[in-house]
Amino acid sequence: MTKTVKKAVFPAAGLGTRFLPATKASPKEMLPIVDKPMIQYAVEEAEKCNIREFIMITGKSKRAIEDHFDYAWELEENLRSKGKESMLKEIRRLAQHQFAYIRQGLPLGLGHAILCSEPFVNNEPFAVILSDDIIDPDDDLLGEMIKIYDKYKATVLALQRVPREDIHRYGVIAGMEVKKNIFRITDMVEKPKTSSAPSDLAIIGRYILTPDIFDFLKKTSPGKGGEIQLTDALKALLLKNEVYGYLFEGKRYDAGDKVGYLKATIELALKNPSVKDEFKEYLLSSFSTIINKEK
Ligand code: G1P
Repeated sequence: MTKTVKKAVFPAAGLGTRFLPATKASPKEMLPIVDKPMIQYAVEEAEKCNIREFIMITGKSKRAIEDHFDYAWELEENLRSKGKESMLKEIRRLAQHQFAYIRQGLPLGLGHAILCSEPFVNNEPFAVILSDDIIDPDDDLLGEMIKIYDKYKATVLALQRVPREDIHRYGVIAGMEVKKNIFRITDMVEKPKTSSAPSDLAIIGRYILTPDIFDFLKKTSPGKGGEIQLTDALKALLLKNEVYGYLFEGKRYDAGDKVGYLKATIELALKNPSVKDEFKEYLLSSFSTIINKEK
């Protein structure tokens, strides 16, 4: 097994029904936040951690993702002829990395999506990034997780404390804190009822997995929602191997939800040098007028 994490898997086969009709013919992952599609934030997060191999698990109506991360000769020629060098550099940068696309033919869940990546992951540790969980680009969640992996050489899951009323939307863990914000996980359950949840520590969409997860996924029967759940395979794995959780205290946006998506759009716009000053001024001067109009 190589020493550290060099590959990332991006499950992107979901139907995106919460964003219909926007997602009828184009992928949810391509919805823009300010000036970049959601999946680009995820890819850049991995890129910042020196990951250079990106494995996308896609499905029907997802071809725009492939085009987005590919070279685009006509557009590049056009930018070049107009002397728009910095934009040209920007759109070519990611295309220089290695992207692989695997179609998840059947909607069998997150666990099944990860299993589809096995031939490309080979025998290496790898990151899994769920692109609708957007992590503030100023935070280094994945980098911290890779450091924990490098130290323990074991599976690492990202955790956040969530309010009781939201617990049923997540995989939830039980564990002991072994170091500040690092937990040794002892149990986990996919989307429990609040009353039976083992804690308020939810798994969020970042994982460092080791290739032994594939054997467990192959043996995992359909669970919650009739889907092959990654949480169920991890629960079986932790009976044999160590599994750690890293409690992330930074900013995450659940952009798989409309309100979370809007929050991400506003907050990331306020960090984007090309629009932040004008947008901030607009919010400050018009906010109370807009809100009062709604009443
Ligand atoms: C998936 C996982 C769940 C995890 C969540 C994080 O659920 O199954 O364990 O807590 O991602 O976003 P999904 O949101 O795909 O239903």
